Amino acid sequence: MISTNKYIGIDLGTSSVKILLVDGAGTILKTVTKDYPLSFPNPGWSEQEPADWWQACCTGIKELLSDQLASEIKGIGCGGQMHGLVALDGNDDVIRPAILWNDGRTAEETAWLNEEIGKEKLSNLTANIAFAGFTAPKILWMKKNEPANFERIAKIMLPKDYINYKLTGVHSCDYSDASGMLLLDVEHKCWSDEMLETCGIDLSVMPQLYESYECIGTIRPEVAEMLGLPSYVKVAAGAGDNAAAAVGTGTVGDGDCNISLGTSGTIFISSDKFGVDPNNGLHSFAHANGKYHLMGCMLSAASCNKWLCDEILKTQDYASEQKNISDDKLGNNRVFFLPYLMGERSPINDTDARGTFIGLSMDTTRSDIVQAVLEGVTFAIRDSFEVAKSLGLDINRSKICGGGARSPLWRKMIANILGISLDIPKTEEGPGYGGAMLAMVCCGEYKSVDACAEALLSVTETIEPDPEITARYEEQYQKFRRIYPALKGLFPELR
Ligand code: XUL
Repeated sequence: MISTNKYIGIDLGTSSVKILLVDGAGTILKTVTKDYPLSFPNPGWSEQEPADWWQACCTGIKELLSDQLASEIKGIGCGGQMHGLVALDGNDDVIRPAILWNDGRTAEETAWLNEEIGKEKLSNLTANIAFAGFTAPKILWMKKNEPANFERIAKIMLPKDYINYKLTGVHSCDYSDASGMLLLDVEHKCWSDEMLETCGIDLSVMPQLYESYECIGTIRPEVAEMLGLPSYVKVAAGAGDNAAAAVGTGTVGDGDCNISLGTSGTIFISSDKFGVDPNNGLHSFAHANGKYHLMGCMLSAASCNKWLCDEILKTQDYASEQKNISDDKLGNNRVFFLPYLMGERSPINDTDARGTFIGLSMDTTRSDIVQAVLEGVTFAIRDSFEVAKSLGLDINRSKICGGGARSPLWRKMIANILGISLDIPKTEEGPGYGGAMLAMVCCGEYKSVDACAEALLSVTETIEPDPEITARYEEQYQKFRRIYPALKGLFPELR
């Protein structure tokens, strides 16, 4: 019998929430996107109002259901922007705007953790070192700079967990997202008492931990009524957006790789076993299929191209900007771009780093600049790819997802700059699709995340690297990697 079960997958992103309606056979029936504001109250700060996320989710779900049989919806799963600090007081009121994953205000706290607690100890306790975007340094920042707010904290949660809390009333977090807090003992999948103590917080403020595909509860009756959903709809714990995207592209086997070109840019390597990069250049996190992964994250990826087109060139027509960049130009650009518009995480871990164009001349064209931006982001992804290779990981192919993955030119650059085959999955809606898949497993439609991926996912096209372009890009990359070290000392003075 054909299943009429339907699932809602939510991608709680940085610029918008994308909500998908997917049937049990994996067909996307409908997509709704709702934007919300992002504020930069100080240079390098990045905040959002959790109420805006919730409002956008509610309006989006209602719109999604407007022409559907709500009784067929069985489950909801969310992949969300990671690391953001959402703090609630004893009345469940949000204490201050959420401090996001790409916020760089915690340079001092990050340095304190890495130097005073020490990288070795942090890595032993949590499998990771401190990065400015992680949650623990944000808690320390709040404790020092907003003591009155800090005293009011009754619950700490990550962005998607705020949505899950509003839906179900259950204070939960899954292991993949919890990994990015620097409070989880990733290997043993439990909160680290020592890290909680270091941050001055009690275990009682922390969420209950779940595997991403486990059910945290059903929708609260009053919320079900408001959204027009049956109250038996189950909510899966969900995942950090990168783990959800990996699920959504079928990146679940040992050594499988996924590249995401969203606001952030990530390279995600799935692993059956727990492992730590000895230099902690790559994050060591739990995966949403119950296993583990390594990940490099750059803070500004497709957002660099968005910034260039929207803010500088004043156009929304990204495809036209790329149309003159022909194959003969690939690997021959004299302009280079450092994509550090929000500082950078992997692998350089430098909140002071900033964007830079170098190599401009009187004959530089608009399209050279566009090309340099796309290439700069791709070279920076290669930096994390090189770290993965130095660990002995043999990556010769990858999936790709995220808004940037829609550009055929950018796909070609990735294949040639990394020198790998690039598999284009059926859908580039990674996190939302992965969220729907987690909901399917949570409701018993598939017996595991891996089985669900096996049943639903396929590759529609593979981009192979071209030996000539790859060789030209190899020379270009060797130049690119000398630019940041040459400027590193100057960036703090531009603060
Ligand atoms: C991952 C990270 C980003 C955000 C973006 O560590 O910080 O990819 O999850 O949403």
